[in-house]
Amino acid sequence: MSTLASAGATPQPGSTTKKPFGKTPDGQPVDLYVLTNKSGAEVSITNFGGAVVSLKVPDRNGKLADVVLGYDTADGYVKDKSYFGALVGRYGNRIAHAQFSLDGKTYTLAKNNGENSLHGGLKGFNKALWKAKILSKKDGQSLELSYLSKDGEEGFPGNLKVRVIYTWTDANALRIEDSATTDKKTVVNLTSHSYFNLAGQGSGDILGHQLMIQADKFTPVDPSLIATGELRDVAGTPFDFRKPTAIGARIDQDDEQLKLGGGYDHNFVVRRSADAGESLAARVVEPTSGRVLEVWTTEPGVQFYTGNFLDGKTAGKGGVTYPRRNAFCLETQHFPDSPNQPKFPSVVLAPGARYHTITTYKFSVEK
Ligand code: GLA
Repeated sequence: MSTLASAGATPQPGSTTKKPFGKTPDGQPVDLYVLTNKSGAEVSITNFGGAVVSLKVPDRNGKLADVVLGYDTADGYVKDKSYFGALVGRYGNRIAHAQFSLDGKTYTLAKNNGENSLHGGLKGFNKALWKAKILSKKDGQSLELSYLSKDGEEGFPGNLKVRVIYTWTDANALRIEDSATTDKKTVVNLTSHSYFNLAGQGSGDILGHQLMIQADKFTPVDPSLIATGELRDVAGTPFDFRKPTAIGARIDQDDEQLKLGGGYDHNFVVRRSADAGESLAARVVEPTSGRVLEVWTTEPGVQFYTGNFLDGKTAGKGGVTYPRRNAFCLETQHFPDSPNQPKFPSVVLAPGARYHTITTYKFSVEK
């Protein structure tokens, strides 16, 4: 059972507490929810942008460290341009020329990434104040966030009702369940944008992390990072992570795709198992701490991004800074620019249908 402890109290194992986290630019209060599971591992989430603010999990000796990048107060998230921990929508990743058509009608979005639209536009879901409700769950602590994205918001058609349920289980798994309905045909592609460093946030680069991505193909990009529409074999390229390989082993190779991304910033096609549930998309091991992250998802793709745009200028949690490649993201999603790529799995949501995806970030240790 989740209990709502009083503000400021030390989180007790098996509880969820709520505390003030600052204010939005127009003065609305922002909260931080701290979900502590039975073993004392802890996730905190703010209703501003639905962002995961911290995630404290044990190493092989049981020592907790915070393994995600973020900010100490709501103000950091108000100013953030990196999408730290955020819920991204209405359309995660890029839409070419900030434009798409549905049933013959063209919709124009803001160009917030060169010529393209990125991560929902100028004020995406990551800048919205979500409604929060603590849920009671048998297997952990749970928080429901909901948001109504109005018809025409950021240029997208349809009133979209979005609900995200975060569950932090007693087995150290963060399950994220997204659902949405619309009253007009629209496109939806939600993702979660945590930046992980399994040695601990602010502890250096992630090039020594060993990564496995269960993908035989990836979607190459053009110079503006728009998917070309090709599904390319990873075999014989630096994109082959089918066997665990250090993230940094090939990142600076003379490879056209790596050069375009400034490192890895690409969508991989997840090898899905036949049943309809979640498939293992990726597994990451940090050798010095022994921490392991597995990413399971119902989504067909995962964007692997190596924090190439981090520049060490932003003040993060506890005064640390985050230089280039100090974290990696594994953003589960439909493929980039799907609204303009008829051969990619569809991202269209029609009235009467329900968008529903599940992604689970499972933490453990290797001895
Ligand atoms: C995604 C994109 C990157 C970058 C980050 C946010 O991962 O693919 O190019 O925009 O988000 O900085």
